[in-house]
Amino acid sequence: MSRIAYVNGRYLPHRHASVHVEDRGYQFADGVYEVCEVFNGGLVDKRRHLDRLERSLRELFIPAPMSRIALANVLEEVVRRNGVRDGLVYLQVTRGVARRDHAFPPAGTKPSVVVTARRSDRKGQEALAAKGVAVITVPENRWPRVDIKSISLLPNVLAKQQAKEAGAREAWFVDSAGFVTEGASTNAWIVTGGKTIVTRPAESGILRGITRTVVLDVAADLGYAVEERAFTVAEALAAEEAFITAATTVVMPVVRIDGHAVGAGTPGVVASTLRLKFHDFSEVS
Ligand code: PDD
Repeated sequence: MSRIAYVNGRYLPHRHASVHVEDRGYQFADGVYEVCEVFNGGLVDKRRHLDRLERSLRELFIPAPMSRIALANVLEEVVRRNGVRDGLVYLQVTRGVARRDHAFPPAGTKPSVVVTARRSDRKGQEALAAKGVAVITVPENRWPRVDIKSISLLPNVLAKQQAKEAGAREAWFVDSAGFVTEGASTNAWIVTGGKTIVTRPAESGILRGITRTVVLDVAADLGYAVEERAFTVAEALAAEEAFITAATTVVMPVVRIDGHAVGAGTPGVVASTLRLKFHDFSEVS
């Protein structure tokens, strides 16, 4: 079955799905995106993803492309047309098509919308989570507005490739003060020897992950101590556990940082418990 994408009002097989050469997403990376997990056929935390999308658009002065309900319908329709039960749906909105000029296009230029969906291999993901993943650390080199889910992702792309070449799954950015900000496409967490869960506050230096928000709810419900504060690489190396979170990975244990084992070098009980409980707390609709 050919995959179907939504492109500016039409549902098209991927081979016919395309955007204009003067789309500002293509020329300037002038746009925003969301990635939402699909779990048992439902969208995970759709409400929060649409809230964050609206915020990203507002921060960049991109008009809403359509009503929230219409956008939710498109997401659901793309999932349905692709027969996705477990997977991901990707949504991208750009400032639209206009003659190339850095400043904003004329008022009334319609934002472009693309939605795609794909299946994921749940068994493969579970097998990965049972083993845990490795991360490397790289200097933070992104712009300060990483709170906006912009499609301008070059530093993230380069960091992820560096991780891949080092045999790792993720790269953690480290700011000039030596504190971990977040992963190239995930939020970063540790669990200290005192069984306290630590993650950087979302006020600066990171994207406020939807998975992060839900994991904080799960942790509170399970009675874990949580501290929202920055942590250093040294602290992470001395931690009992580490993990990353994102719509693409849910909670994924980290067992190596820059080649050094974290804790026992195997997934920890806190990360594994949070992973197990996650979907009891996320909204699936
Ligand atoms: N990435 N930090 C960054 C830089 C991210 O790109 C992401 C998500 C997150 C986690 O956010 P959430 O829990 O809402 O998925 C944190 C998506 C999945 C991606 O780029 O594929």
